[in-house]
Amino acid sequence: MDYLQIKRVDSLNGNIKISGAKNASLPLIAMTILAKNSVHIKNLPHVADINTLLKLLSNLGAKCDFQEDRVVVDTSALAQTKATYDIVKTMRASILVLGPILARFGHCEVSLPGGCAIGQRPVDLHLKALEQMGAKINIEAGYIQATAPDGLKGCHINFDKITVTGTANIVMAASLASGNTTLTNVAREPEVVQLCEILNASGVKIEGIGTSVLTVHGTNGKLIDIEEFSVIPDRIEAGTYLCAGAISRSELTLTHVDASHLDAVLAKLEEMGSTFTITKDTITIHPSEVIKPVKIVTQEYPAFPTDMQAQFLALATQANGTSIIEERLFENRFMHVSELQRMGANISLNGSVATINGGTQLSGTDVMATDLRASSALVLAGLVANGTTDVHRIYHLDRGYDALEKKLEAVGANVKRLKE
Ligand code: UD1
Repeated sequence: MDYLQIKRVDSLNGNIKISGAKNASLPLIAMTILAKNSVHIKNLPHVADINTLLKLLSNLGAKCDFQEDRVVVDTSALAQTKATYDIVKTMRASILVLGPILARFGHCEVSLPGGCAIGQRPVDLHLKALEQMGAKINIEAGYIQATAPDGLKGCHINFDKITVTGTANIVMAASLASGNTTLTNVAREPEVVQLCEILNASGVKIEGIGTSVLTVHGTNGKLIDIEEFSVIPDRIEAGTYLCAGAISRSELTLTHVDASHLDAVLAKLEEMGSTFTITKDTITIHPSEVIKPVKIVTQEYPAFPTDMQAQFLALATQANGTSIIEERLFENRFMHVSELQRMGANISLNGSVATINGGTQLSGTDVMATDLRASSALVLAGLVANGTTDVHRIYHLDRGYDALEKKLEAVGANVKRLKE
C-alpha cells in the first residue's frame, strides 16, 4: 500500500493545472449507455474512480479505450445488465448505471451500495423516482432488481431531498423514456448542468438547465448521437489547491479552472483574508499572512460544498481565532477531526458542528486517510506541520485526485509517495 510523506517547506510557488472533474466524468461516462455511436470524451482525470466505472462498463460488454486524458466508449455491444458487488463496493457512484441501463434494456441489476465512511448514503430517492416512471423494483440478496418491460414513462417527480447522483440518474433514465419528465427540487451542481447540456446538445431536449426544475423530453427508446466533448474542470480539486496556497501563505496560480463554479469557496477564502486575480481560466491566490476565522455551513450548490469541508477545517486550524463549521449533508463526515487532533489541532465536535480554535502549531506524525476529501485535509495540514507527516491509506485520495503529489512537488512542496 502507498502512503504520502510530507515535509514542511517555507512556501510554495508556481502553477497547477486543474484536471477534469471526477464528479462530472462519472455521469458523463454512464451517459454513453444512451448513445448509439462511440462517444469521445476529453479532459478526463486520471483517478481510480474513473477506471472503476470504465471497468464496470467493460464487464458489461462495452469497449473503452482510455489514453492520456481521452476515452472512447462504445456501448453498442453492451449486453450484460448486472453491476456486481465487487465493483459497486469500491465506488458508490456505480449506481449511475442503473437509470441508463434500465431505460435502454428494460431491466437492470445493481448491487446495493451499502453504507460508507461518511454516512448512510441511501439510494431510496433514485429508486422511488424510477418507480414513479413505471419501473418495478425488488431488493433481493443485496441487489436492486429493476424492470420496466413496457419502457419508462415520463411523469412528475419531486425529490424530497436534493441529490446529485439521483438527479443525474433520473435525467438519464428520462432521456430515453416516453413522454416528458418534470423533475423538481433537483441538484444544480455544475456537474449535473454539464450532463444536461450534453444530453440537450445530443437531441434530448431539456428545459430548465441550471435551475431546480428540469423538464426532460424523452426519445421514446431511441438511442442518441453524442458528439465529442470535454469535461469541465474539477472545482473541488481547484478548491483544495487554493486551500494549499492559503494554508502555506503561498501565491499559487491554478490554470484550466472555472472560477464561476467556485463562488462560495472563493467567498470563504476571501473572508479568511486571501485575495484573487481571476481570468477566464486561471485563478491566482494572494494569501494573507494572518488567516482569519470563519463560519461555514455546508449545503447544496451554489452554497458551500461538503466536498470542501475537510480542507477548510484544516485551514481553520491555522486561523487566528475560533471557526465554526457545520456539516449539513453527511452525518459522519468529520473523521479527519481525530487525525488532525493527533497533529495537535484544537477542535471540538458537537454533533454536526465542529469548533476549531485556530493558531496551534501542528506537528507531523502518522495519520490515516478515512475518505477522499478527508485525505486531502491531512495533506494540507502536513504542508504546515513541523517535521514529517505520513498520510496512510491514500487509496482514498487516489480515487479522486489526479497526480496530487506530482502537482504539489511541481510548486515546491516536499511530498513523496512511498510504499508501506
Ligand atoms: C455527490 C458527490 C459527492 C458529494 C455529494 C454532495 C458524485 C459522484 N458524488 O454524491 O462528492 O459529496 O454529491 O454534494 O457526484 N440521499 C438520500 N437518498 C438518496 C440519495 C441521497 O437520502 O436516494 C441523501 C444523502 O444521504 C445525503 C444527501 O441526500 O445526505 C445528498 O446526497 P447526494 O447528493 O445524493 O450525494 P451523492 O450524489 O452520493
